[in-house]
Amino acid sequence: MSIIVTGSIAYDYLMCYPGHFLEHILLNETGKISVSFLVEEKQMHRGGVGPNIAYSLALLGRHPKLMGTAGHDFIEYAAWLNAQGVDTSLVRIYPDEFTATFTVMTDLDQNQIAGFHAGAMSRARELSFRGLDRADIDLVIISPNDPAGMAKYALECQELALPFIYDPSQQLARMEGPEIIAGMRGATALTVNDYELELVKRKTGLSESEILDYVRMLVVTRGAEGATLQSKTERVDVPAVPPLVLRDPTGVGDAFRSGLVTGLVSGYSWEVCGRLGALAATYVLEQAGTMNHHYTLPEFAARYQENFGNCPELADLMRR
Ligand SMILES: Nc1ncnc2c1ncn2[C@@H]1O[C@H](COP(=O)(O)OP(=O)(O)OP(=O)(O)O)[C@@H](O)[C@H]1O
Ligand SMILES: [Mg+2]
Repeated sequence: MSIIVTGSIAYDYLMCYPGHFLEHILLNETGKISVSFLVEEKQMHRGGVGPNIAYSLALLGRHPKLMGTAGHDFIEYAAWLNAQGVDTSLVRIYPDEFTATFTVMTDLDQNQIAGFHAGAMSRARELSFRGLDRADIDLVIISPNDPAGMAKYALECQELALPFIYDPSQQLARMEGPEIIAGMRGATALTVNDYELELVKRKTGLSESEILDYVRMLVVTRGAEGATLQSKTERVDVPAVPPLVLRDPTGVGDAFRSGLVTGLVSGYSWEVCGRLGALAATYVLEQAGTMNHHYTLPEFAARYQENFGNCPELADLMRR
């Protein structure tokens, strides 16, 4: 049985400009811009929501299957993911496309100029759950990706009765109410942060209790304030796990989902599911980048125990 993670697969290029963009972006009477910045400190990070979630699931011993689309430049990324324990057999590689690329330049004032090239990600709508062995799938997570692909996956999960988590996150900004409702209908859980919850409520006109007419569980993360898991009849509040150092929050939400999913597929109590999410997230806070953290299962279990005390689920977690 496996967890299938769908989501964007991308390379992130981060560059620093040791000056001030605003001194160079002056519109003259022609109204044209033509500037070139000599940048320093170029970094390349492997990224994308799909790999981020799959990576922490692999650390937690779950052998996830990443499902997504990538380009001819994905070969080394795939080899690296495999070495981390992520199965990439459901990633389709398009030799005529580039893997999605996020490029951002930041100046000394923290102004940013960024571009996102979707490349192979815009083909994610060409993948399908039909034809996969239904009996081999525990849970699907539908995370930010090609919008048409996300809508298709949700519909297929509904039609094929595959349990799924609907995780639209940053894609909510461009979605309308009916699309959000169509995506979350029948989901095991809807996962959002507190800001995204407000977006869902505003765009759909639904209250929290009405959202729970469509999804079994609503999971809301609230940064350092922790997270809430709720259904029509139950509500569990989970505190955040304080980081030893706070380096970079990018990717915390994704890692939270990895811990949550681990608990859900294992049938753990909601309290434990949320705590696994909170601890998995804190490891990401403590490193720069979204996949530079590392732990063994015994290390993870020991830290869980330090924060939350022992529970029978920990022994089960370690057996995986
Ligand atoms: N400052 C913090 N200290 C401790 N834990 C944190 C902190 N920020 C986030 N977390 C943990 O990570 C979880 C998810 O955080 P958050 O709600 O900020 O996600 P997010 O907004 O989706 O993040 P992103 O999209 O940037 O990855 C929280 O529920 C909490 O457990
Ligand atoms: Mg998020």
